[in-house]
Amino acid sequence: MGNTQQNKTINSQRKIELRNDEKYIHIMKYMGSKRELLPDIREEIDKISSEGEGVLDIFAGTGSVGVYLRDKYDVISNDVQSYSGVICDALISSCSHEIDFNKDLLSKIKKSFKKNRSALLEMFPKTVDKSRKFVITEKRGWTEEGRLKYIKFFESFPSPVNKFKTRSTELKRLYEQYLERECKANKFPYMQTTFLFSETYFSIEQCIDIDSIRYAIDKCLDGKIEKQIALAALVYAHSYCSSGTGHFAQFRDLKDVKSINDVFLYRDRCVWAYFIKKLEEIIEFQKYYPERDHLSVNMDYRELLNDKDIMKRVDVIYADPPYSFVHYSRFYHATESLIKYDYMLPAFKGRYRTDRHQSPFCQKQNVAKAFEYLYDAASKNRKKVILSYADTAMISLAELEEIATDKGLTFDAREIDYDHSTMGREGHKSNQIKEYLVTSTFRERQ
Ligand SMILES: C[S@@+](CC[C@H](N)C(=O)[O-])C[C@H]1O[C@@H](n2cnc3c(N)ncnc32)[C@H](O)[C@@H]1O
Repeated sequence: MGNTQQNKTINSQRKIELRNDEKYIHIMKYMGSKRELLPDIREEIDKISSEGEGVLDIFAGTGSVGVYLRDKYDVISNDVQSYSGVICDALISSCSHEIDFNKDLLSKIKKSFKKNRSALLEMFPKTVDKSRKFVITEKRGWTEEGRLKYIKFFESFPSPVNKFKTRSTELKRLYEQYLERECKANKFPYMQTTFLFSETYFSIEQCIDIDSIRYAIDKCLDGKIEKQIALAALVYAHSYCSSGTGHFAQFRDLKDVKSINDVFLYRDRCVWAYFIKKLEEIIEFQKYYPERDHLSVNMDYRELLNDKDIMKRVDVIYADPPYSFVHYSRFYHATESLIKYDYMLPAFKGRYRTDRHQSPFCQKQNVAKAFEYLYDAASKNRKKVILSYADTAMISLAELEEIATDKGLTFDAREIDYDHSTMGREGHKSNQIKEYLVTSTFRERQ
């Protein structure tokens, strides 16, 4: 392995750096987000690149790296998940556009939001009323009796677990209306989240608000960039009003009074307020940087590496693939559905999408081949690569080095101490693991 050196920067120092330079804006809680390593990543990219060159963030996730580089480089962001495309459009590609969110437009959005919200409140009055009473209960603190009552209420919602059967007339209607929208997703009122996630990650009323903002966005925003910005603000509200632990792999089991107390801490968060706050922040954030030629795409990384037109724009590939066997499509299926909004019938207890992407980087039998593909394409296209990886990941650094050198590339790993978020709320929130930034260039250039 090449020069491995200890980096003295610690997470807290990195956070201060990020706050000061206004180069970053946060959209969602995300497993493996590189927000706290941004200065380190930029430093490595700066070492091998010049201003105005093209940097491909090939596994962009929340787009954090591209956002942090967008003032200096032409950024091409890519990820297989649609929500990532929306965030990257909103934060990176949009900085070379005139953004128009005037007062009239904002009041039109609010009016449409209210229209959808009223329609849903009228369709499910008893259910919403019951749910609201549980939110009020939370203020007095939960008891075991209250917990059992709530579980009964929760179980009355149609779901894959009860084969979508329910005794409630209102909830039967919710299911029927959902099925109608499988072929006609833009039918009024919007109700996808209300069906999928009421009383799981959100209360039914929070779901109604999410659906109503989603409706208002489709109704009022035709301009691509404004629409993507509003959707990114909604992704933020969705992430921060959720009672999950930062992902949507499984909603929390209400196994005791403590867990139900914890879940209900999130139930009176106002989705609309979170949405508007982030919308204003993004609009403000877009004023900072000069025009550049950014692009955001949604492709499997192999397809992208074969796209000659896109690869022409690329000088450096920054690769931050998944580190573990956990598929992002399972952890963020709810975010994906919020963007796709296609009323797919969910499966399993977790109410997953049935079209979830399976990444080769998360499969022990395929991970080596996945890296071979990446390094092979980089070598053939004469592109430099900077890879983020960890010592606990799916394949060892020694194996990676072998793959890269076989493809005629150098392999220079820099070690960084980093508290890695495990996305849990209780007990250990983070693990001290070794993160690496590995730079590879073609050998004959040395
Ligand atoms: C570690 S995360 C990236 C985090 C990102 N750097 C950030 O700061 O938010 C890995 C990303 O790889 C994406 N991904 C996994 N397999 C992929 C594939 N085959 N093609 C494209 N993207 C993929 C996932 O959707 C996920 O967003």
